Amino acid sequence: MTESITMRTEGQKERVTQRGLTLWLTGAEETMRLGRSFGNVAARGSVLLMRGGLGAGKTTFVRGFAEGLDCREDVQSPTFTYVLEYLSGRLPLYHLDLYRLADEAVGELDWLDEYLFGEGVAVVEWSEYLGGYAPEDALFIHFMASEERDRRLVTISAAGHTACEVFAAWVSEWSS
Ligand SMILES: Nc1ncnc2c1ncn2[C@@H]1O[C@H](COP(=O)(O)OP(=O)(O)OP(=O)(O)O)[C@@H](O)[C@H]1O
Ligand SMILES: [Mg+2]
Repeated sequence: MTESITMRTEGQKERVTQRGLTLWLTGAEETMRLGRSFGNVAARGSVLLMRGGLGAGKTTFVRGFAEGLDCREDVQSPTFTYVLEYLSGRLPLYHLDLYRLADEAVGELDWLDEYLFGEGVAVVEWSEYLGGYAPEDALFIHFMASEERDRRLVTISAAGHTACEVFAAWVSEWSS
């Protein structure tokens, strides 16, 4: 871990809490381990909004995440289906990939809320395409490539009550 920031601001009606952290990951196995650690602590209703270019490591993270949830299925990339469900783990896992949405209207996806505000955990690749439909209570995971082929700079932050609780649990999990 290279840096850690904690910010708390008092909203007018409710307390808004944000937390964040940046770390380097070397090799796909380390990204899997990051995913696994989040899968271990994710709660019902957790939403993980991922960003990062092609090949940045998003699906690799989800593979680890599914393991952390004890899913038995192999994670595939849902690029051509928008969403794949994995139901064999501790909580239902909804894996969304909105890459092909780039030129379409996200508002026309009437099934979206079912996953983003559902009974399971939603992890979203290319979450930037959600625009204003992105849940406010969410974890944000941004993967950035580096000059070294196997290294990624990853920024993790959380906003909202539920996501911040999961974030705090994850910090203990990751540093243990
Ligand atoms: N530190 C790393 N973290 C994650 N992946 C890495 C890392 N180093 C190398 N890789 C490799 O980079 C590729 C990442 O592919 P992955 O499918 O996870 O990317 P993605 O972000 O889901 O891409 P896409 O936007 O096309 O879906 C894999 O081949 C993986 O082995
Ligand atoms: Mg992918």
